[in-house]
Amino acid sequence: MNAMTPPDDSRPTTPSERGAASHGLEPSLLLGPAKDPAIIVDHISKKFRIYDERNRSLKAAVMRGRRARFQEFQAVDDVSFEVERGTTFGLVGENGCGKSTTLKCITRTIRPETGTITVDGRMSALLELGAGFHPELSGRENVYLNASILGMRKREVDAKLDEIVEFAGLERFIDMPVKNYSSGMYVRLGFAVAINVNPDILLVDEVLAVGDEEFQRKCNEKFATFRDAGGTIVVVSHGLEVMRDICDHAVWLEHGRITASGTSGDVIDHYLDMVRSERIERARERIGDGAGASPNAATGTNIVRAEMLHADTRDPVESLTATEGFVLRVTFDAEAVGEDVRTNFGIYRDDGQRVGSFNSGWSAADGPLTTVEMVAPRCPLQPGTYAVNVAIHDHSMLQEFERIDKFARFEVLPSEDRHQSGMVDFSQIWRTA
Ligand SMILES: Nc1ncnc2c1ncn2[C@@H]1O[C@H](COP(=O)(O)OP(=O)(O)OP(=O)(O)O)[C@@H](O)[C@H]1O
Ligand SMILES: [Mg+2]
Repeated sequence: MNAMTPPDDSRPTTPSERGAASHGLEPSLLLGPAKDPAIIVDHISKKFRIYDERNRSLKAAVMRGRRARFQEFQAVDDVSFEVERGTTFGLVGENGCGKSTTLKCITRTIRPETGTITVDGRMSALLELGAGFHPELSGRENVYLNASILGMRKREVDAKLDEIVEFAGLERFIDMPVKNYSSGMYVRLGFAVAINVNPDILLVDEVLAVGDEEFQRKCNEKFATFRDAGGTIVVVSHGLEVMRDICDHAVWLEHGRITASGTSGDVIDHYLDMVRSERIERARERIGDGAGASPNAATGTNIVRAEMLHADTRDPVESLTATEGFVLRVTFDAEAVGEDVRTNFGIYRDDGQRVGSFNSGWSAADGPLTTVEMVAPRCPLQPGTYAVNVAIHDHSMLQEFERIDKFARFEVLPSEDRHQSGMVDFSQIWRTA
């Protein structure tokens, strides 16, 4: 912004608005202020130091008599949002985007360098797997230890213990040291304690992914009961469909910054669009390398690659004889265009005369990368120059998703022993009758 810019009274004033505005987000991807916020995250940033391998430990650095060398890594970068009391709020984004770091800032496990966090209510958290458990102690002893850290008296824990153990489904294992627990057992116990210590706010990082389906169902029921009783939840998970169901609002983080915020459905749709287009982009790079440059191959938007290959060698083909076969092959993004996708190849002579139009007749749609081939065992055409078009459309052919005209051109060469003209090359048998 220009230093001469006059003050602007319409400037956004809530942390979320200011954060989003400073990142240039569209207003539709911007979550407004909460009416009754349980949590206000206001412009927090957190850097980590990544130490040079050779100087990893402080001791090594001291022994060498010089400062450890390190690089700084911005894990959370100017993040702001508000969580409305009594709602469920989700953080989504790729591995390493800063979700857990943000949660740890909220629980005050780590301290951001800048920004403030306001929490109104008693908070309980289930962060990393097994965090807060003592491996040598039994499940029962760990329940008492954890609950006391979260502020419960022994008497209160006594009253809750059966419920906790039953929820965790660990009746038979509760007196076993937790170091012998499976990761699922850790999570069950951790979640059971976290939700049963009567918090107002519950923070949960990735546990939904660890448990089995039955456990996830129980967690979701528990979340619902907790919410109905006015509880506030902040949850991190890569299980996007579960997040869509259980969260009211969500933010999407990318490299520590908010890329979108809003209702969970909008944010997750936006996120999935990005994930899909990145996947396509990578596939395009992988299979479409030099698509334009390599002969008889082209690339479009939803059509990742269209190509013409020799039937036997599978090499790009630009010329063939009538006795040789060819393959027309197209790879497209079926997720982008729908479940009902038919493929059509059209072959034209260079004077524009249509040789034929060939339709797959069935939908091969299968995820973001669907490949369909039409194999012609021979090329029954007279010598000449031809072009191939490809189109993907729905079964009615009324909706065309994409077309690439003349993605391939090929020459049919004269066969040595044939003397004929016209357009097609029938297989023929000659005899004297
Ligand atoms: N204690 C730390 N020291 C150095 N770097 C760290 C530390 N904790 C996190 N990071 C880095 O900060 C970034 C954000 O980490 P964070 O754990 O918040 O990601 P995340 O979004 O929770 O990822 P995931 O989906 O894999 O759980 C990552 O690049 C991570 O390597
Ligand atoms: Mg994480």
